[in-house]
Amino acid sequence: MNKKIQNIINNKNKKKIICLTAYSKNIAEVLDNHVDIILVGDSLGSVLYNYKTTQKVTLQMMIEHSKSVKQGVRKSLLVVDMPHNTYKNKRDAYKNAKKIMVSVKPDAIKLEGGKKVVNIISYLTRKKIPVMGHLGILPQSHKGKFKYKGQTDKEINNLINDAYLLEKNGAFSIVLECIETSLAKIITKNLKIPTIGIGSSSNCDGQVLVTDDLIGLNVTSIKFVKKFGNIRKNINLAVKKFCKQVRGKAYPSKKYSY
Ligand code: KIV
Repeated sequence: MNKKIQNIINNKNKKKIICLTAYSKNIAEVLDNHVDIILVGDSLGSVLYNYKTTQKVTLQMMIEHSKSVKQGVRKSLLVVDMPHNTYKNKRDAYKNAKKIMVSVKPDAIKLEGGKKVVNIISYLTRKKIPVMGHLGILPQSHKGKFKYKGQTDKEINNLINDAYLLEKNGAFSIVLECIETSLAKIITKNLKIPTIGIGSSSNCDGQVLVTDDLIGLNVTSIKFVKKFGNIRKNINLAVKKFCKQVRGKAYPSKKYSY
């Protein structure tokens, strides 16, 4: 097994695992000094392209952004999301995952779903493609109103079972998105592999957020997002200074001219 993946698994019950998203090299370079996992999430569809859902994100978009991110990653584990419709069956999943693995050379891919994707996860991992799972709210197939998961006995049992199946079939870690606090605890305790929570409480082995949200570049009011910075303010200040100096003919001065 890839050493970086083994390290992530070994961190379970020892230290919290930190995962953040990156869609380009410069952000990846900054994150790489701090985090354990960098995820090229298909959330780039909504965050960068303003799509209503992630369903319009294509394999080629994921590959191009991932190639850029890869340039900025030295230490972290690099995971790339398989976009919607690229893993409908084992053959498609392998063909498309292989395309990502060959053109980007990440450490792993991530795909969404429980019971339905178990045979795909098993197939990919047997073909030596490491897979991170994703349970709870599944943005690629989510329809209707937002509802956190784990509100009925049926949902609770299904999620516990799905998590177990994902682990049994080779996933090395699972993202838990918007899962009720006590259920996140049960799932995390039941598994040998780490859970990475987003909106799923501190009961998970690690946490993931969309970087653009936490640095205050993307404006969002999602309950679980805490704004840890205000990068928009910094950009505003820099752009304002630039405009002022160009208009006032202070820039470019001799120093910045040939
Ligand atoms: O697409 C994404 O960025 C994700 C994370 C938020 C978990 O799947």
